[in-house]
Amino acid sequence: MCGIVGYIGGKEAAPILVNGLKKLEYRGYDSAGIAVLENDFLVYKQSGKVSNLEAIIDAKVKQVTTGIAHTRWATHGEPTQENAHPHTSNNGEIILVHNGIIENYKFLKDELIRKGFHFLSQTDTEVLVNYIQYIQDKNQLNIEDALKKALQSVNGAYALAVLDKKEPNKMVVTRKGSPLAIGVTDTNDEFYVASDAIPIVEHTQSLVYLNDDEVVTLERGKKLKVQDIYGVTKGYKVKNIDLDLNQVNKGKYEHYMLKEIFEQPSTIENTLYSHLNNENTQISFDKLEELKEKLIKAKRIIIVSCGTSWHAGIVGEYVIEELARIPVEVEYASEFRYRNPIITDEDIVMAISQSGETADTLAALRYSKSMGATTFCICNVFGSSMSRECDFTAYTYAGAEVGVASTKAFTAQVAVITLLGIQLGLERGTISKDTADGLVKEIKSLPLEVNKVLNTEKHIKSVAKNFVKSSSFLFLGRGINFPIALEGALKLKEISYIHAEGYPAAEMKHGPIALIEESLPTLMIATNNNFYDKLVSNAQEIKARKGPIVAVVNEDDDEMTHTADFVFKVPRVSDILQPIIAVVPLQLFSYHVAVYRGCNVDQPRNLAKSVTVE
Ligand code: M6R
Repeated sequence: MCGIVGYIGGKEAAPILVNGLKKLEYRGYDSAGIAVLENDFLVYKQSGKVSNLEAIIDAKVKQVTTGIAHTRWATHGEPTQENAHPHTSNNGEIILVHNGIIENYKFLKDELIRKGFHFLSQTDTEVLVNYIQYIQDKNQLNIEDALKKALQSVNGAYALAVLDKKEPNKMVVTRKGSPLAIGVTDTNDEFYVASDAIPIVEHTQSLVYLNDDEVVTLERGKKLKVQDIYGVTKGYKVKNIDLDLNQVNKGKYEHYMLKEIFEQPSTIENTLYSHLNNENTQISFDKLEELKEKLIKAKRIIIVSCGTSWHAGIVGEYVIEELARIPVEVEYASEFRYRNPIITDEDIVMAISQSGETADTLAALRYSKSMGATTFCICNVFGSSMSRECDFTAYTYAGAEVGVASTKAFTAQVAVITLLGIQLGLERGTISKDTADGLVKEIKSLPLEVNKVLNTEKHIKSVAKNFVKSSSFLFLGRGINFPIALEGALKLKEISYIHAEGYPAAEMKHGPIALIEESLPTLMIATNNNFYDKLVSNAQEIKARKGPIVAVVNEDDDEMTHTADFVFKVPRVSDILQPIIAVVPLQLFSYHVAVYRGCNVDQPRNLAKSVTVE
């Protein structure tokens, strides 16, 4: 959470920093701040969005060419101006921005208070900047050596950009657990720093990604100096990032979320075709060859993930077990990492993550690796921590997802895991070549089918209007559509603040049915061939108790259409491929309910796109 930006070079820093913050606002928008350094620091901070900060930046910043900036998702302390970054040391000489959490800040703070330091904010970050000052003063060190030494006593996660008034030609940056990228140029005249590539690529496409515990000194005209926190010199690789800048604009859409929902025909297509052979007839995961044997022989696959990616994991469980007959366990990464799970070198642990940076998923992946498991990730961000650390990455080619509510990343994740299930099934002989070919042929039709659903947006919007005042919603699905019920409920609650629960439809009788009444609508996903009759019975039980029903049904549906109050019709495809189609009306429904309620769909309250803290 939180986004950091830095610039040191020959251009005016403030506009670069503010624009960068706007691109990182998806990571948090509780407060924003900027500091530029010439002879002294000029610091501006404001609670709320980057636009609030922009409004108070005055002409004094003009022509100042070094600075750091921050957009905050509050962890320690309320989202007030005093808790906004950058934070300055007591002697006013060091200033920094921080993304992450300093876990032992309380211990360090008590020690600093005993030594006479005082604090203006409740943040862990202010403790860190003062601890660096303390180490610097005590050992008479320059800023990078003070930072390195200080970090030896710090526990937690951080990406930091640090300036020292005494050394105005330098910026020092580091990371551990939280992401950080540095944009470089051939001449080394200027450097761009950011929590991800998006604010950097409009300036330079040459990026350096740091490893944990690497401290980098940026000085105009000099190459990067990279050392670990113990002073050991490290090499670095410059990567060329090809990121389409159109992906990070809203284009003709009012919100990123809507744009991203509508991008799905092409993002699903890009994802599918990236994992097919040249003739687009066979699945071909690049570089999977070395792992193939292990995957084929796997006794079990454990999927670890969070939020929407966890729902994609459950779809994966149904697909892989059905097609490849490998037992799959799907775990919340946050629970898995702390419950002493049994993992052996025969296990495949698969992380699913849009960002590739989610702290719990990354920790679960690292733990599994340390226990000898083969690690695999399905990830949307090139160069992310997960993709760098696991044994094999299957990318989703969804492009940059900016809306906090994940949409196109989810369908791309499901597309990848479905291809993987088909491939494993074929290799293990649990499905025939004909079945695999048939599924590959059908999966290629999904972009077109998703487009048909998108064309029904107007109807979905008109249905959404009926539920603007609802305070609670039940989502029901069965089989492979159960995770779609979970995902529909998550989408609705996170952007419209309507309480929503997803359940397997048959579980309704074991509790949730007590809630059913006129004011509690149920959204049923009733596209499965297998469970259709049972779902119709569930719908009748709801109607008998006067509960309103919205149902996702196939185009040729009859019975459910007569039972439900409203239906969203979607094309009929094989059950195993239905989730990608069935989720789309739920995304649009949530979006329109939230817009009718006046909610900020791209930046829902209390949330951030990438949860890089526990
Ligand atoms: O980047 P990741 O896929 O690892 O993120 C996981 C969750 O934080 C994310 O899916 C979250 O639940 C979204 N807000 C859902 O829309």
